[in-house]
Amino acid sequence: MGSGGYKWTYRAPRWIPAFVAEHDLGPFPAMTERLREVVDRGGFGYHTTVDHMIEAFCAWSARRHDWEPDPGLVVANASVLQGVWSCVEAFTEPTGAVVLTPPIYFPFNDIGPTTGRRTVDWPLVRNEDGWHYDLDHLAHLLAHDPGIQLLLLCHPHNPTGRTLAFDQLAQIVDLATRYDVVIVSDEIHADFTFPGSTHVPMAIVPGAASRTVTVTSGIKTFAIGGLRVSVTAFADEGLFTRYRRIPEHLLGSPNRMGSEAAATGWELGDEWVDQLVSLFDRHRHHLVERLAEEAPEVRVHLPQATFLAWLDVSAYAPGDRPGRWLRDQTGVDCKDGPLFGQGGEGHARMTFGTSTALLDEMIDRIVDGLPRPQVR
Ligand SMILES: Cc1ncc(COP(=O)(O)O)c(C=O)c1O
Repeated sequence: MGSGGYKWTYRAPRWIPAFVAEHDLGPFPAMTERLREVVDRGGFGYHTTVDHMIEAFCAWSARRHDWEPDPGLVVANASVLQGVWSCVEAFTEPTGAVVLTPPIYFPFNDIGPTTGRRTVDWPLVRNEDGWHYDLDHLAHLLAHDPGIQLLLLCHPHNPTGRTLAFDQLAQIVDLATRYDVVIVSDEIHADFTFPGSTHVPMAIVPGAASRTVTVTSGIKTFAIGGLRVSVTAFADEGLFTRYRRIPEHLLGSPNRMGSEAAATGWELGDEWVDQLVSLFDRHRHHLVERLAEEAPEVRVHLPQATFLAWLDVSAYAPGDRPGRWLRDQTGVDCKDGPLFGQGGEGHARMTFGTSTALLDEMIDRIVDGLPRPQVR
């Protein structure tokens, strides 16, 4: 925590940082050991460890998610967002449109302003059980907007923690095929999918391979965002060849440390990650149960995946900065929901990827700090 990272130096300790999608349980010890070896040997020159990292990713994906990508169809980038932006460049025309699923991981909302592409919202809808995808709405959007060329999924979904089941993915593939749309599936949160749900990689759904790009990384799983490493994986030569038309030097590449760290995590991290998944599974239940019991005006649905909780504080009329409002009331520093676009009003995103003691302190502060209920 005292390591100089963004989470713990930005506004902590005045407020408890729960705003960034990074967990506090790292680093994975074998990773630290490996990086120490690299440091001890002064291994800072140009390196050849990326291929090894890609192989480790493919084996991890096969073991953990039943999808074994072909290492020859995987490109390493410096960040998942670089993977996303390069797909927008490769698979859409300047006049084309990209579908987003708000409320959505807020940097995706920069795609329109920074690339000139039109963005089309396919919003998740909420009912009593939580946030859901409305497949009929997607069908309607695609049928009426021939400019749509790319569907950007966040699978599992940040911030709602919603997963997509096999039959939903199959319907998306059918639609994408009918309207000739490329699917970019950001699966960075896949490793934290909890009992009761399964992460189904989009690429294994029948018919998906020829039109799907998977962008992912070990940075969420192993809390190594500062090391800048990600992969963009194809399941088909055709799409891969189109992607490779982007000059290689615009695609970035991981540095030695990122590459070594990711490879170590993917090779040796199974047991460590299993324990984290169990811990965060307990945390999601604990958070939802305590809030339901002690602060029922804060509405939250049990996330199926991710270590993120999407808190609805609209009962308090928190204004247009609900995260800041919550922070000022409670000292728990959450991300403002409106940044996530449609569906973000009245919400704040809170990270529960921390120790149980700190999670309890955050919940205590929320319970103690919020105004007395306005309506019971
Ligand atoms: C869905 C999603 N995609 C991408 C990223 C960022 O990945 P990177 O730092 O590799 O661009 C995050 C980080 O929070 C995320 O939640």
